[in-house]
Amino acid sequence: MNEQRIALKEATSEKHKQAENMPFNQKMFQGNLSKKEYLNYLVQQFAVFGELEKTPLPHVSLGRSKGLIFDIQELLNEGLNMPPVLPATKAYVDYLAQLAQEQRLAHVYLQYLAVVFGGQMMKTKVPSSGKFYAFDSISEGVQAIRNVQKDEWADEVNVGFDFTIEIFRELEWSTNNVENESFSLGL
Ligand code: HEM
Repeated sequence: MNEQRIALKEATSEKHKQAENMPFNQKMFQGNLSKKEYLNYLVQQFAVFGELEKTPLPHVSLGRSKGLIFDIQELLNEGLNMPPVLPATKAYVDYLAQLAQEQRLAHVYLQYLAVVFGGQMMKTKVPSSGKFYAFDSISEGVQAIRNVQKDEWADEVNVGFDFTIEIFRELEWSTNNVENESFSLGL
């Protein structure tokens, strides 16, 4: 790993820690998400990756939409309802949609390397066959991102972490809210 790669990682490591430690993410990492909660997460991911995949990626094998559709369909086939896109997700997608290509690439670095690294640890812990985490050529995909990433992206990557943290917060809130709703109905 060269110096440039380390600099961007270090400049964003505080936010990485914060995102990693969000309760919803921890629950997922510990293998404790219900299918309903995981479907909710996948739908938010599909909105974000769908937006990023409207423009070409650094490598064709990075594309996540197909795997996400497969995993979402798998859970819908089990009788679960389609959850809505959360306001925090919509805010991130709207933000991404108005970025210039160079700034969008900072979010490609953030979201795709998240699936490559954290995701590979996550794939055996989720209640799904996990096509979202399957890559035809993971090393070529990572290399293509490494070839374009820049230290100057640190601020933009940290903005992406902030949006991601808000999405985790809303995922956690919507889970608790649904539980509270059932409670208040006396179920
Ligand atoms: C429980 C959740 C997570 C775990 C366990 C985790 C773990 C890791 C690990 C082990 C690495 C590789 C570090 C190295 O050896 O270089 C990594 C890198 C990375 N993670 Fe995470 N991660 C998690 C969540 C996230 C989230 C939510 C995001 C953002 C959406 C994210 C974004 C990244 C990025 C961009 C890198 C690449 C840094 C670089 O090398 O330039 N991670 N993560």
